[in-house]
Amino acid sequence: MTLDEGVSLLYLLASVLFILGLKQLSSPKGARQGNFTAALGMIIAIVASLTVIHPSGARIILMTVAVVIGALVGAVMARRVKMTAMPQMVAAFNGVGGGAAALVSVGEYTRLISGSSHGVVLAIAVVFSVVVGSVSFAGSAVAFAKLQEVMTGVPITYSGQQVVNGVVLLGIIAFAVDIIGFSASIPVLVILLLVSLLLGVAFVLPIGGADMPVVISLLNAFTGLAVAASGFALGNTVLIVGGTLVGASGTLLTMMMSDAMGRSLSNVLFAAVGKVTESSSATVGIAGQDQNVRAGTADDIGVLLSYSQKVIVVPGYGLAVAQAQHVVRELADLLEKKGVEVKYAIHPVAGRMPGHMNVLLAEADVKYDQLKEMDEINDEFKLADVALIVGANDVVNPAAKTDPGSPIYGMPILNAEDAKNIVFMKRSMRPGFAGIDNQLMFDPKTIMLFGDAKDSLTKLVAAVKSS
Ligand code: TAP
Repeated sequence: MTLDEGVSLLYLLASVLFILGLKQLSSPKGARQGNFTAALGMIIAIVASLTVIHPSGARIILMTVAVVIGALVGAVMARRVKMTAMPQMVAAFNGVGGGAAALVSVGEYTRLISGSSHGVVLAIAVVFSVVVGSVSFAGSAVAFAKLQEVMTGVPITYSGQQVVNGVVLLGIIAFAVDIIGFSASIPVLVILLLVSLLLGVAFVLPIGGADMPVVISLLNAFTGLAVAASGFALGNTVLIVGGTLVGASGTLLTMMMSDAMGRSLSNVLFAAVGKVTESSSATVGIAGQDQNVRAGTADDIGVLLSYSQKVIVVPGYGLAVAQAQHVVRELADLLEKKGVEVKYAIHPVAGRMPGHMNVLLAEADVKYDQLKEMDEINDEFKLADVALIVGANDVVNPAAKTDPGSPIYGMPILNAEDAKNIVFMKRSMRPGFAGIDNQLMFDPKTIMLFGDAKDSLTKLVAAVKSS
């Protein structure tokens, strides 16, 4: 077997491991293993790539230093990041991936035009990678800043925005055509890269902070495509396969997230562009100041739970903020010992990233068969004695079904309002991420338990123990 054949086999093995890893990631049960499988594929791909490059002494040191620095930064960030800040971290990692693909393509192009072997197809691949990788890098940086609250999460819009964005896009097309068809010039390629960065910023500025996870998922797909194109320029099959997998899965995830929010992707991306808003807080407020809410005590609710037959827990973003996943499991275990059936209703966009609640509850070793997806559990709410809403809000807001004027109208929600009793655990009457009031808090069946979710759950555990 020649060296090239050996490397091709290793690339094939790495590609198979990527696909297996993705398959395992599609269920909470296999997700942890899926990460290891895909990481093993990546190690094999890196080693095989290094073998085929035959780097000289100085280069191998440089590459090793880069790999070590990258691995250290990644490991420290991943260990330190809070679950609630995970979307920003994905944005940061995704952005550097796109930026790397763009830079690799610029480097490869420099090499190609100094030799004799470059053609139109390769130039297209390079240009595609530079444009899409740069848009992904700059767009991810803005998404990061919005989520980290380094800048406002409110859509940044102005009149004539469509024209400005259109001009930037036309500029990109003109420079791309010039490189592919005429000039083959490195300075023009660098200008193309800079204008593409501008497009990345212009693309994400008018999108609100609440929609950033969808944007990040889309930019993730962009990064995958940029990497695949740079793999094409480099003649590296594993980059083509890996990049295409990321592009395809990122696209699917983006579509699924938009669907779960009951909105089209174009509405998420372009609805605000060019709109000059008089006031962006028309729907934000303290719900129904003139209505009464029923506030309960942990002791009363403890008794209610203990004497229930069926309790459905609805976890949301507040559970992640409070880091209350272990206590909620403790409460569920206690109730089960008392003969209560406990299930968790998982809304696809509960929290701030796909699978947020699954990851959180898996960390607390909640049994997978207790986690029920929305379609599976929605009909069971009417049989439940208690819907225990822990730090969720938008995902149980009936306005999504009843108020055509609501920004979340059309979003499928969990039918918590069908339960015989509703316990709403949050700190205040403030709205959730969508910034809209929730009438469920005023439902006569609802008891509010105000306070940090972890504190409230700890009190409930004590109350259930003593009831
Ligand atoms: P939200 O509607 O954001 O509501 C979370 C609630 O948790 C808030 O009302 C807040 O009320 C409460 N809370 C915060 N910290 C708390 C704490 N320490 N203890 C107790 N309660 C706390 O969350 P959700 O129902 O999970 O809905 C998710 C939202 O994010 C949806 O609008 C969804 O469209 C959006 N979104 C999600 C995704 C993904 S992929 N998950 C992507 C894009 C957008 P208080 O302040 O009164 O405590």
